[in-house]
Amino acid sequence: MPKLLVTNRSGEETTVEATAGLSVMENIRDNGFDELLALCGGCCSCATCHIHVDPEFADKLPKMSEDENDLLDSSDHRDEYSRLSCQIPMTADLDGLKVTIAEED
Ligand code: FES
Repeated sequence: MPKLLVTNRSGEETTVEATAGLSVMENIRDNGFDELLALCGGCCSCATCHIHVDPEFADKLPKMSEDENDLLDSSDHRDEYSRLSCQIPMTADLDGLKVTIAEED
């Protein structure tokens, strides 16, 4: 099982045994992080699954769609490593992926 390292808004890091095939959002949510609201359930229309991704993994992630890019623009906390976690499928290749739950908008 790939590992996913999640830092919450208090700065605490937790290592999660992730399930490949589920999105990063689903893996975070299913492991009890209630800070990640994911209100739209993963259909790329709410931006409440915003995370910052470790720069080391930026190149391994699927390309951002225009919809994801537009939604991220609505966040005051966007930076160059911002992604919507529902748009990133967890894979064995992403073992060790580090993400930080974005500040609340
Ligand atoms: S869960 Fe709504 S955009 Fe990701």
